[in-house]
Amino acid sequence: MVRVREAWATRIGLILAVAGNAVGLGNFLRFPVQAASNGGGAFMIPYFISFILLGIPLMWMEWTIGRYGGRYGHHSAPGMFAVIWRHPIAKYLGALGLFISLTIMVYYTYIESWTLGYSIFSLLGLYFDNTTFESAKEFLLSYQGLKPDGPFSSVLVAYLFLLVTLGINFYVLSKGISGGIEKLARIAMPTLFVFAVLLAIRVLTIQTDPAIHKATVWEGLGFLWNPDLSALSDPKVWLAAAGQIFFTLSLGMGTIHAYASYLRPKDDIALSGLTTASINEFAEVVLGSSIAIPIAVVFFGVQATQEIAQGGAFNLGFVSMSVIFSQIPFGEFFGFLWFGLLFFAGITSSVAMAQPVISFLEDEFRFSRGKAVAIIAVLTFICIQPVVFLLGHGFLDELDYWGGTFMLVVFALIETILFAFVLGVDKGYQELMRGADIHIPEWFKFVFKYITPLFLIIILGYWAITDAWRVLLLEGVSPDAIPYRWAARGLMVLFTIGICWMVYRAWQYRRQMGLRDDVIEVPID
Ligand code: PHE
Repeated sequence: MVRVREAWATRIGLILAVAGNAVGLGNFLRFPVQAASNGGGAFMIPYFISFILLGIPLMWMEWTIGRYGGRYGHHSAPGMFAVIWRHPIAKYLGALGLFISLTIMVYYTYIESWTLGYSIFSLLGLYFDNTTFESAKEFLLSYQGLKPDGPFSSVLVAYLFLLVTLGINFYVLSKGISGGIEKLARIAMPTLFVFAVLLAIRVLTIQTDPAIHKATVWEGLGFLWNPDLSALSDPKVWLAAAGQIFFTLSLGMGTIHAYASYLRPKDDIALSGLTTASINEFAEVVLGSSIAIPIAVVFFGVQATQEIAQGGAFNLGFVSMSVIFSQIPFGEFFGFLWFGLLFFAGITSSVAMAQPVISFLEDEFRFSRGKAVAIIAVLTFICIQPVVFLLGHGFLDELDYWGGTFMLVVFALIETILFAFVLGVDKGYQELMRGADIHIPEWFKFVFKYITPLFLIIILGYWAITDAWRVLLLEGVSPDAIPYRWAARGLMVLFTIGICWMVYRAWQYRRQMGLRDDVIEVPID
């Protein structure tokens, strides 16, 4: 059977695609909320330390594992883990890489579709009557179908935007790696950077008037950038910071691996990995922190901004921002830039979430791309229904907690052990340096082998001691939400069973067909 091996067309396209994978709603929505609700300047030190000790090493490990697996014709984690560790259980550990990306995809695309909706609403000036936080909040709730007597009579409009969003995602995916994802990134990434820079300039040059505004923009920046050493001893802030590093860099999810696997065996990964991580951090700490937080501080004050952030993940990005746009000159335009930027950031990430499963179906079952995309489209569409209709009951939050936060750390620990101890840190380092455009100092081996895993174990250990029971037993969750939380868990269990079954069948199929892990040395484009 002749298989056409897909590959990235150009290096810049690859970099933009992986940066697009990483730069997402996490940078512009999640980061400001995490930073503000964890004390601003108190958050940034653990954040940078986590970037260096977890972010960069894991990024390099994932690129290495990805390119290594790709050489054997595997573009998703089950096959990659199986070639590194020739033990029957390895592929099931890799199944986590399908589970996580799929779970995140199911709720992420829904949020992404709100940004599309809001960008159109901005142009039409639809939310501009909401000049108070409360009324803007009602607008959002009504859009989400959670407030029937608001401006929207049902969730229908949101549902239509969701359909459009899913349609675009699967259209892009159906065009493949270079023809779909890479092309999208080449357009969306530069555009979103331009939008973000324009917005940052607008925010930083705002003329504040003490009669209207609560603070200056510098106080907003100071809130974030004045380091606060007192919080360093608070493990909760460390957890939040490490969790943000995972989410924003798309680490521990299986998606970086998938993208890296479409490289050729001697393509550089050392510099590319570092570059994409840096682009993401630029988008996050320079652009992401120059928009939502400072402008919220100007309009609401430091204290209230913290409360807004603590009150819910969408209060800052959707609610407070829409209040602000309704009050500034050319708010329609800036609102469009903000939500448009979020949409572009979101879509270049959500296509990445679907790719591992698509690759899995193509590689291990020899499905055509069209068939694989169609299967994922139907599956996502079905699973997204409870996210839409049970939103008010915490369904999304439960998926986000397990699939979008906890499991990432588990997956990262597994892959670090595979990289450093099973493949072996020397061989891993050699792989990383093959074709490398920069020299990574050898002492990084020590980081890969001891520091990163230790950091991960401490995170998990601390979680087990302080949070595990409380979270597992849903303490503090309102009683009427509990059945829905369990329903979300049920869905995740179903996912797990379904994915493990697919992996089982895939390897059965490989045996029947006599497929082996042959090195594909010369890619055919
Ligand atoms: N890193 C993306 C963000 O910051 C999220 C993401 C998760 C992307 C999973 C790919 C896979 O929003």
